[in-house]
Amino acid sequence: MASSPQVIICKGAICWGTGEAVKVEEIQVDPPKASEVRVKMLFASICHSDFVRARGHPYPCFPLALGHEGVGVVESVGEKVTNFKEGDVVIPIYVGECGECENCVSKESNICLRYPLSVSGLMPDGTSRISVGGQKAYHVFSCSTWCEYMVSDENYLMKVDPSIDLAHASFISCGFSTGFGASWKTAQIQSGSSVAVFGLGAVGLGAISGAKLMGAAKIIAIDINEKKREKGEVFGMTNFINPKDHSNKSASQLVKDLTNGMGVDYAVECTGVAALLTQALESTKVGKGKAIAVGAGIEEFVPVNWLGLLLGRTLRGSIFGGLKPKSDLPTVATKCQNKEFPLDELFTHEVPLTEINKAFELLKQPDCVKVIIKI
Ligand SMILES: NC(=O)c1ccc[n+]([C@@H]2O[C@H](COP(=O)([O-])OP(=O)(O)OC[C@H]3O[C@@H](n4cnc5c(N)ncnc54)[C@H](O)[C@@H]3O)[C@@H](O)[C@H]2O)c1
Ligand SMILES: [Zn+2]
Ligand SMILES: [Zn+2]
Repeated sequence: MASSPQVIICKGAICWGTGEAVKVEEIQVDPPKASEVRVKMLFASICHSDFVRARGHPYPCFPLALGHEGVGVVESVGEKVTNFKEGDVVIPIYVGECGECENCVSKESNICLRYPLSVSGLMPDGTSRISVGGQKAYHVFSCSTWCEYMVSDENYLMKVDPSIDLAHASFISCGFSTGFGASWKTAQIQSGSSVAVFGLGAVGLGAISGAKLMGAAKIIAIDINEKKREKGEVFGMTNFINPKDHSNKSASQLVKDLTNGMGVDYAVECTGVAALLTQALESTKVGKGKAIAVGAGIEEFVPVNWLGLLLGRTLRGSIFGGLKPKSDLPTVATKCQNKEFPLDELFTHEVPLTEINKAFELLKQPDCVKVIIKI
């Protein structure tokens, strides 16, 4: 039985249109429907993909109630919800796992066909639970975490141990887990192999952690921000390339220079810079290299060198690092709980929800990795 069927009026961060500043507005959050859960958010964090959505990609959905990383406490549940109860600590996820569809029963995919990644900005029934100024607001994927309250379908939530560090729980709801999973599940990195990770945000640092866990012998990190060198070291990279130090060479050539001209076994692209996808691909070995596309930008098409691909390399895309939320994500949460990842290194800044725009300024600073939004 729903324990709190009232509409809640609270604050939430809204983007009204492409390129417009985010405003903290009074929003209305509807009660959860039958299979839904309403969550009181405690902490949220910012992932680069929030900016991709705020710029109207892949489809413009405005007003947009932003945020898809976070952690909160269940406030009320719909009448058919059996897996969650008031007081549970939960994180949002944006791919479900029905366990029965063709992709769920396959080891090859985490893209559940029944509960897929939602880019419509709406709940699975095609409606929204948030409104602002009398207008329907859209969600980001299956949630809106930069709000005091949000509603999500129960298939897009995961319970975490209430003793978990809340900032760390927020980081594993997207960015860090995505990179970790890209190395673990999508690339399935072999022990003793070589890996190049392009871009050391939370996603790239997660990819380094995953490569390390899989026993990679060489982990080359590439970033134009020199401050990321020390972060990469903490997470387990073995070599760092700052392309700005070598303006006459491509990033792929710089990776080859560190691997006897051969290239790496795997490359994980985590910048979202379109031109780097072909660099990632070409940094891998001719005949058998695998490049994983994780970064997301605003371009509809990305250039990939045709011959570079024809020469026996594989290019594979990955959503949420190929992690199945029920089968794989609990492993990441347990490792997080056991402090097996140096996640404190990600947490560089904190702002209250009311000062959300300050967070965007902080993100431009070279020493910033993750901004926690205290709700
Ligand atoms: N596929 C998915 O499921 C998924 C999930 C989460 C995030 N993403 C995407 O992954 C990407 C990374 O997300 P994030 O939150 O870690 O981003 P971020 O902005 O924190 O990190 C990006 C890093 O790339 C570096 N970089 C930028 N341009 C570069 C260049 N030309 N050469 C080398 N390094 C460069 C930056 O200095 C930064 O360290 C984004 O595109 C995001 O949208 C995808
Ligand atoms: Zn994200
Ligand atoms: Zn499924």
